Amino acid sequence: MMVTHLSPPNRRVVLRPAAAGAAFSGLEACAASLRVFTMVANRGRRLCSCCHGWTTLMQRSARFNATVRDEADMSAPTRRLGVPDDLASCHTVEVEGYVIEGRVPPEDIVRSLEQRPTGVRGLAVPGMPIGSPGMERTGGGRDACDVIAFRDDGGRDVFTHYPALS
Ligand code: CU
Ligand code: CU
Repeated sequence: MMVTHLSPPNRRVVLRPAAAGAAFSGLEACAASLRVFTMVANRGRRLCSCCHGWTTLMQRSARFNATVRDEADMSAPTRRLGVPDDLASCHTVEVEGYVIEGRVPPEDIVRSLEQRPTGVRGLAVPGMPIGSPGMERTGGGRDACDVIAFRDDGGRDVFTHYPALS
């Protein structure tokens, strides 16, 4: 598997509050031009709490209009949307032609939708890394984790690398 970095490594997850930068003039015009993306989140009917946490984050985010569908059989949406078996997680999300699998941070979803990298079918965070969105640990900290871009041709790249934080 060929793995290359598409973005600078060591970027930290920073969820900016909506009011950040309020001191700058023109903020209202800027905020008004931010696109809101339509998202359908398929998640297992037997919810794990992190799954619920992730979808709640998306629904509260100013960038997504998220609808949640509870599925009896999660293998149906993952197969239909072409998620590789080894990347499958507890929720599979459709957002404007892209597939999001697992606990992908919202800023990575927005960046992929804005950049539209050629041939990329979607982004995935395999497993359940501690500290990823929806799996925050009280007291902070995070496992190292990669957001993987998987392509139509079967190739994969590291879209964002998040180093461990203690
Ligand atoms: Cu989930
Ligand atoms: Cu989960």
